[in-house]
Amino acid sequence: MSEALTIALSKGRIFKETLPFLCAVGVEPLDDPGTSRKLILATSRPDVRLLVIRATDVPTYVEYGAADLGVAGKDVLMEHGGQGLYEPVDLRIARCRLMVAGRPGTDLEGSRRLRVATKFVRSARRHFAAQGRQVEIIKLYGSMELAPLVGLADCIVDLVDTGGTLKANGLVPLQHIADISSRLIVNKAAMKMKHDRVSRLLEEIQQAVNEVNDR
Ligand code: ATP
Ligand code: PRP
Repeated sequence: MSEALTIALSKGRIFKETLPFLCAVGVEPLDDPGTSRKLILATSRPDVRLLVIRATDVPTYVEYGAADLGVAGKDVLMEHGGQGLYEPVDLRIARCRLMVAGRPGTDLEGSRRLRVATKFVRSARRHFAAQGRQVEIIKLYGSMELAPLVGLADCIVDLVDTGGTLKANGLVPLQHIADISSRLIVNKAAMKMKHDRVSRLLEEIQQAVNEVNDR
């Protein structure tokens, strides 16, 4: 049998929302990543295996060819830069928006240098640079909403879905940066070397995505 196709994805939201597409193309994981400690999951298709890794690590595994394919949020891809990989399918899952947020009345226009807390350093810098603003970025790894409340930053750049987390912390959305959804990504060399199998899988998954969205 030829070498297995490897798909990298993170547990939690992305795994849960990708699972119906995997099942639709006959790829059923033999373990549940929610309970199993295994990092490599065999599937019902002997030629396909899954790697369960941190969401932010998915593009790196795919870029270096440690995984042939992966599922990653556009937010993560924008931070990674997208080198060494293709992004052929928008799965239209895990949808949210990347936004600037802060306390009500926060002045983003003034001449003062803004302090921006975020884990999306690259996207934040690019967003403000496009407005001709140089900002001071404070890198955080989570719970960004806290930063403006305790004077660590003037505003944050974070993901917003329902707006519930902002609201619960007395913050409001201030500027829209990008609409986000998860993408199926492919290693560039795998696309050439394993072309037939990869393109067939991509077609099948795209069809499953279309069926869900045409309903
Ligand atoms: P890591 O473990 O690397 O820190 P994470 O904790 O951000 O990643 P998740 O919370 O599972 O991982 O988010 C995975 C992806 O889901 C994000 O990259 C984003 O594209 C999307 N996402 C995050 N939060 C939401 C949300 N509230 N609603 C919809 N989609 C979201
Ligand atoms: C994400 C994001 C926001 C929240 C937004 O966090 O970082 O905090 O969702 O969603 P809402 O607008 O519907 O409230 P998540 O729940 O994934 O937690 P985590 O980033 O700490 O994993």
